[in-house]
Amino acid sequence: MTEGTKKQFNVREIREQFPALRQLIYNKNLIYFDNGATSQKPQVVLDAINNYYSKDNANIHRGVHYMSQKATTEYETARKTIQIYLHAKKSEEIIFTKGTTDGINLVANSYGELLSAGDEILITAMEHHSNIVPWQMLCERKKLTLRVAPINKKGELILEEFDKLLSTKTKLVAVTHISNTLGTINPVKELIQKAHAVGAKVLVDGAQSIQHMPIDVIDMDCDFFVFSGHKVFGPTGIGVLYGKEALLDKMPPYQGGGDMIAKVTFERTTYNELPFKFEAGTPHIAGGICLGKAFEFLSTMDMLAVQQYEKELTEYAQDLLDTFEGMRIIGEAKKKTSVVSFVMDGVHPFDIGTLLDKQGIAVRTGHHCTQPLMDFYGIPGTVRASFAFYNTREEVDTFITAVEKSINMLK
Ligand code: ALA
Repeated sequence: MTEGTKKQFNVREIREQFPALRQLIYNKNLIYFDNGATSQKPQVVLDAINNYYSKDNANIHRGVHYMSQKATTEYETARKTIQIYLHAKKSEEIIFTKGTTDGINLVANSYGELLSAGDEILITAMEHHSNIVPWQMLCERKKLTLRVAPINKKGELILEEFDKLLSTKTKLVAVTHISNTLGTINPVKELIQKAHAVGAKVLVDGAQSIQHMPIDVIDMDCDFFVFSGHKVFGPTGIGVLYGKEALLDKMPPYQGGGDMIAKVTFERTTYNELPFKFEAGTPHIAGGICLGKAFEFLSTMDMLAVQQYEKELTEYAQDLLDTFEGMRIIGEAKKKTSVVSFVMDGVHPFDIGTLLDKQGIAVRTGHHCTQPLMDFYGIPGTVRASFAFYNTREEVDTFITAVEKSINMLK
């Protein structure tokens, strides 16, 4: 679908597509502000799940029978849809994974095999545990060094420090596109150019960006881009690793098993071509097909309009929260979106979250799988409201009133 034929952004129309948003929680209209953790699903995805298991359920790439061939076609069509959405050159570059964590572990284990003692991996101080721990494990296994580019108190990457840590020893930069805790949007294109200038490859963690903005992996020029299906309006247990073909070709398989082989003998096994080399075993077939439906749904939307809408919604919420006495916003980057994290003097985040829940408002509290970031700010956790394109200003108004009520009860 070309930009000109995309639907005008209309939040009321979008909301109608998401049945979960219509429910009452404790007799209050649900306000779902936990989209950073997972998103709700549109009717087309729900119908596709039901349809697949009601009619089409069969294993793929294996059967001569009608149902197997139909499931295979639908699974491969989904891969194509995602390739087109990401602007990737070939569908072979789209590897289905279990999610972001699985994609990062795949790269750490497979690309990691090409690295040797003394090589360096560079991450940032705002990474999710899933973009820290796999690299720590790899560094331990292969005697590599993990470097961490620092951030300032606003939650922005300090570019001069990033530059200083980058060298010809750096073999991989792994960076989040948008911080799940701070909402900071990292200048990934610029970071990729800098990394490529020293010969390093770049993995972009798109878990928190894919649902909020247009993504073009060619324009970005990332070597790897990973995300989870469930955060982009698809099912859990499915995700995508995009990788440049030439690089994926050089990388050894991550897991062995069915589907990833060309020929097996007891003496020697040869491997299948891309993308199957990285997809051992029966995959999450329904997940892949339904993720394709989520992307078909997104393809009808003007993602630039979505991005602008969510930016304004985030600023609106943050400005209102900032008026409370004792309020500390965690993450005040100039470029941020879709997340407002905060702590309140003298009140534990968990207590605010619990009282908001009783008012029908879903937020996340805690360290958000970013403990080093919590240590940096000297806090145990935050309350985090995270938005999607189906959230509204009216919901933010209700949320602000509820936060005020909760704080008054707790203080
Ligand atoms: N990484 C997810 C979050 O930020 C689970 O909530």
